[in-house]
Amino acid sequence: MLQGKSILLGISGGIAVYKAAELLRLFVKAGASVHVVMTENAQRFVTPLTFQALSNNPVGCELFSMQSESQISHIQKARLPDLVVLAPATANLMAKMAAGIADDLLTTILLAATAPVLVCPAMNVKMWEHPATRRNLRTLTELGYKIEPPASGFLACQEEGAGRLAELCDIFESALRLLTPPTLAGRSVLISAGPTREYFDPVRFLSNPSSGKMGYALARIAARRSAKVVLVSGPVSLDCPSGVERVCVASALQMRDAIVELSAQQDAIVMTAAVSDYRPSELSAQKIKKSAEGFSVRFEPNPDILASLGQTKPPGQVLVGFAAETQNVFENAKDKLIRKNLDLIVANDLAKEGAGFGLDTNQVKIIGRNREPIDLALMTKDEVACEIWDRVERLLSGGEN
Ligand code: PMT
Repeated sequence: MLQGKSILLGISGGIAVYKAAELLRLFVKAGASVHVVMTENAQRFVTPLTFQALSNNPVGCELFSMQSESQISHIQKARLPDLVVLAPATANLMAKMAAGIADDLLTTILLAATAPVLVCPAMNVKMWEHPATRRNLRTLTELGYKIEPPASGFLACQEEGAGRLAELCDIFESALRLLTPPTLAGRSVLISAGPTREYFDPVRFLSNPSSGKMGYALARIAARRSAKVVLVSGPVSLDCPSGVERVCVASALQMRDAIVELSAQQDAIVMTAAVSDYRPSELSAQKIKKSAEGFSVRFEPNPDILASLGQTKPPGQVLVGFAAETQNVFENAKDKLIRKNLDLIVANDLAKEGAGFGLDTNQVKIIGRNREPIDLALMTKDEVACEIWDRVERLLSGGEN
């Protein structure tokens, strides 16, 4: 994900310094080349040796180091990275940045840096709430710095409130977003994901094994490309991707209502949800008791959400469906593309190994109206999502499908 990218990780002195080691590992694991610069106070919490060993690069600590300046000056260090991440950023570092002070290696680099800077504050709750910190935060935002707000919870100083370094997965995702070209900026997209549950008594329902992974991958990648993303999700056990608005639903009727309300303002809609085609005709108010004769449930058809979106599609909107098939994959998917008035359909051959429900991988065929279908190799659901968005972007900018 970060292959060929260079990140400068600036670390200032707070108890969260130890978390920067794990963040560094995440960046390195994703393929980035990371250079660490530490303030003097940061070195009191964790030694530079740890960061040197994890990054496999020398750690910058001193502005007036004859040796390191002769190898690479602080001005060159400022020019090198594609992204600067400050984690943890203390109240003191933020105050210096807001005032334009450059009195050590890190703050000097920051004044000369041209890459985007992601500031991840971590401090005591009173320091975070202090009017001076609030003012500095506003100044940093005005200056174009990106802020990853601290999380709330129990703090190292035994107080409760906002000030904990943001979750590392959120920092990582924000970094990825800053390094991804904003090809969906200004676009609103809606994605449906997961299964629906059709209850016939308070504790029993008809459903399917959709985990939501395909839909959540589409939402994550769209947010990375700077789209405004709303994710209408059936019941799954996944966290909402950062930068995504999630609407949680259970039944097909609830999913239809949520989607129909939001559909008109979307530039693109992608339906990955495995919507139940049927719902029980009756819902028992009480749990159905076990009996020797057994019991039967009558089902009636659910509305086809995608087909009704196809009928009311505003001009310019791109509508993408998925087709989960076990036989005649191409023919059945193509039929759904035409019948539901879609721009693209993504055919999922559930018989293929590594494809379909619950897995981290998928193997799909993308079928448009006028172009040859594209057979994608087995890849991660994130990679499939990238391929789908590439095609949606082409359609949004007036290309052929
Ligand atoms: O969630 P995962 O575990 O990652 O699994 C991903 C997936 C297999 C669920 C996904 O890749 C997939 O194939 N989703 C479509 C599942 C499906 O319901 O296919 P379908 O052929 O029955 O429906 C065709 C299209 O119509 C789908 O876009 C579906 O969202 C939509 N539909 C179906 C029925 C209905 N009542 N309303 C609908 O809108």
